[in-house]
Amino acid sequence: MSISSISCGYTFKLSKSQAFRGNTHNSSQFQANPFPYPLPFHLSLSKSQKYSKNKLFSSITASSSETPTVETPKKQSFRSKNPKDINVLVVGSTGYIGKFVVKELVKRGFNVIAVAREKSGIRGKFGKDDTLTQLTGATVCFSDVTSLDVLERNLENFGVDSIDVVVSCLASRNGGVKDSWLIDYEATKNSLLAGRKLGADHFVLLSAICVQKPLLEFQRAKLKFEAELMQEAEKDEGFTYSIVRPTAFFKSLGGQVELVKDGKPYVMFGDGKLCACKPMSEPDLASFIVDSVLDEDKVNQILPIGGPGKALTPLEQGEMLFRLVGKEPKFIKVPIEIMDFAIGVLDFLAKFVPSLEDAAEFGKIGRYYAAESMLVLDPETGEYSAEKTPSYGRDTLEDFFQKVLTEGMEGQELGEQTIF
Ligand SMILES: NC(=O)c1ccc[n+]([C@@H]2O[C@H](COP(=O)([O-])OP(=O)(O)OC[C@H]3O[C@@H](n4cnc5c(N)ncnc54)[C@H](OP(=O)(O)O)[C@@H]3O)[C@@H](O)[C@H]2O)c1
Repeated sequence: MSISSISCGYTFKLSKSQAFRGNTHNSSQFQANPFPYPLPFHLSLSKSQKYSKNKLFSSITASSSETPTVETPKKQSFRSKNPKDINVLVVGSTGYIGKFVVKELVKRGFNVIAVAREKSGIRGKFGKDDTLTQLTGATVCFSDVTSLDVLERNLENFGVDSIDVVVSCLASRNGGVKDSWLIDYEATKNSLLAGRKLGADHFVLLSAICVQKPLLEFQRAKLKFEAELMQEAEKDEGFTYSIVRPTAFFKSLGGQVELVKDGKPYVMFGDGKLCACKPMSEPDLASFIVDSVLDEDKVNQILPIGGPGKALTPLEQGEMLFRLVGKEPKFIKVPIEIMDFAIGVLDFLAKFVPSLEDAAEFGKIGRYYAAESMLVLDPETGEYSAEKTPSYGRDTLEDFFQKVLTEGMEGQELGEQTIF
């Protein structure tokens, strides 16, 4: 257990990694815990002396006649504060989910510091002004999460001197091998380290339900970070995490709506029943993620989560779509083995032509989503279980399809490789 805080111009510094600054004058630093020997003086801090930048120390007391007793200083839990006094750092704030997370945090009154790139969005299509508009209500710090030094320096220059909670919605925009490790592992870890240095006591990670069965590089990168996050909480009982593992997003299922509307058939693998998911909207998932900032029952938990209603197979999604457009269902059933063949060829070629490594990976990602369910994998049966996949929220896939039929897919664009 280590604690660092500032009180009345003094920095109590117990762990290098947790030091944070306050607007002190004449500040000086000394070790407060563990004290290697009884204090040579009688000390009792007044209530006002126990607060600085909303951080609380438990009292250090000593009577005149007894050996001084030193209570371990304790920081005030951010959970007992008013949301407006809780500083939440959001990385991945410009993504499909990140934008809604920022919006929801702002709506609930948190003090939001959103980290963004100067050129954000798919292929950097948004400039600074667009980003500031998208993230209205948050303070936006333009930085580079792929460099810890740069991130820390930018936050410091920006005047951020304490963080309570970090929320990461970072994700590789293309799912390629190197980019996955760079973003889903390294950049996410940078946000943990930078947050910890500024005093963060809680980390909410947007992960993915598919990491239960890791066959892809981005899943391995996410799992490595998840493991390190959990280790951090084991090392320091004052630090907690919530790992949110959602099922499929609406954007990943809307790709055929306009085609079907135009009279084209619905394309699916096998008999259309190889996999199923409980689709979830961006606002519903953002709401669940923001619940995870404060909810005690989400502390140190891995939280698989799906949207409302029953799990849907691709066949059921296709049937729903034809019903909505009022057309006779027409399906093209593609044998999954075709993908296996293509992946096999690409994997073989990538051994000699390294530039094909990502192409092979994208094929594997496509294959994975065509055959694996985005549902909880029941450890007892080894099968995916719709019943064991919790539901949250109100937005249904049917409402989403209806909206796309009238308004189009704007805001639902897939990433750089149009895979997810
Ligand atoms: N699609 C699904 O159905 C599904 C289902 C379950 C879970 N998930 C998981 O949900 C997570 C978030 O997905 P999403 O769709 O919201 O992601 P997204 O829209 O692709 O957003 C990714 C975020 O990460 C940032 N980022 C990416 N590369 C970066 C870089 N090099 N430097 C700085 N920032 C970078 C992006 O910033 P810029 O705007 O600057 O690019 C953006 O803010 C992913 O982990 C995904 O695996 C997805």
